[in-house]
Amino acid sequence: MSGPSTYNPKSGFEKWIDTRLPLPRLLHDTVHTFPTPRNLNIWYTFGGILTFCLGVQIVTGIVLAMHYVANAGLAFDSVEAIMRDVNYGWLIRYIHSNGASMFFLAVYIHMFRGLYYGSYKAPRELIWIIGVLIYLLMMATAFFGYVLPWGQMSFWGATVITNLFSAIPVVGGHIATWLWGDFAVGDATLNRFFSLHYLLPFIIAGVVGLHIWALHVPGNNNPLGIDVKSPQDTVPFHPYYTVKDAFYLVLFVILFAVFVFYAPNFFGNPDNYQPANPLVTPPDIVPEWYLLPFYAMLRSIPSKLMGVIVMAGAIVTLVFIPWLDTSRVRSCRFRPLMKQFFWGLLVCCILLGYCGSQSVDAAAFGIIPLVWVARLATIYYFAFFYLIMPIVGLIETPRKLPASIAQSVLGDTAAASSSLPAE
Ligand code: HEM
Repeated sequence: MSGPSTYNPKSGFEKWIDTRLPLPRLLHDTVHTFPTPRNLNIWYTFGGILTFCLGVQIVTGIVLAMHYVANAGLAFDSVEAIMRDVNYGWLIRYIHSNGASMFFLAVYIHMFRGLYYGSYKAPRELIWIIGVLIYLLMMATAFFGYVLPWGQMSFWGATVITNLFSAIPVVGGHIATWLWGDFAVGDATLNRFFSLHYLLPFIIAGVVGLHIWALHVPGNNNPLGIDVKSPQDTVPFHPYYTVKDAFYLVLFVILFAVFVFYAPNFFGNPDNYQPANPLVTPPDIVPEWYLLPFYAMLRSIPSKLMGVIVMAGAIVTLVFIPWLDTSRVRSCRFRPLMKQFFWGLLVCCILLGYCGSQSVDAAAFGIIPLVWVARLATIYYFAFFYLIMPIVGLIETPRKLPASIAQSVLGDTAAASSSLPAE
């Protein structure tokens, strides 16, 4: 689909560059003329939005790092100084902290979009698997970042999560000590977490490069989940999708700005405005909202080791999805049964998030212990991937697929006569 290059250097300088470092050719073929299915909807604008989020986190993070002090005795005060004394420090910090939440909001939409339209199916397995790797790196980066302000939740969150490694038999305790760089979470831990928090976004940027490279080999999937068959099925990426992506990016930035300017602590935890105190454990230790579903899984299982295995298993499972789905049809639009189970999965993930946010002995309506709700939702999560996906794929009768993308967008006659260039 990416096909032969259509770049035609005109001036002498363009020709000179093209024979030495053909970057303009690369941009022309991958951004400008790249043939893109003509039916991509709003959910396809989130890849671009995610790239924007990564850029915002890197730029604001670099400025924050100019003023932040990675020392257990000074970190909390240095963050307060950023908020009060650094010019526009409050704005940069709020963009960065809310930016993490917006980044995860976008990535969850992006992932559920991929699940719904079967974008992980051949030939796009590697795009998906590289995406799972990005997601893992994002979680690690966010966790390290949350520790840096060295508030109560930073300290106790780091203690809970690093202690999970001690559940591993025999070597677990040694691994935890090795991670801390000490015999408990302390200054050495803060220093290494800062170092990794600075490093990982650049690794993510590199892996995003691979993600987009892998995407440009088969080209985009689309809401119908059918392959591109003729030039009529596609339009050039520019200006059709540059304009569409830009429009939805503006809407996203407006939502982002609403949080930054009107509810900057909406996603935060008030306990993190208390300096870290190893002698006082907060009544409830809760991670940021985007990690809550996994946290709920962990807490719903009485054995610590089993909890860790289930939580890690929930993430590792994502890697196998391309082979767990046995359906011939990609998009849930044509899968009446799978569509219902898909919405069930979304509800379960939201329920798990809710359970993770409540204290461990809380009950819904005063009678249903949330720990049981979390257990049932965890069972559904695994059943969805290991039972429902393979079985429904085999027994379901999909609805009839349209003959082509152009036919579905333009109707029979218009599709036949359409001659929009795909270049
Ligand atoms: C920093 C994070 C990420 C960035 C910047 C990013 C970027 C992109 C971009 C630009 C596209 C093409 C436009 C689009 O389809 O929206 C794309 C497609 C895709 N991404 Fe991501 N992505 C990220 C994370 C992820 C994650 C976590 C997953 C899954 C676990 C994932 C899975 C996919 C898949 C399957 C496609 C192909 C979609 C299709 O053609 O239907 N991505 N990504």
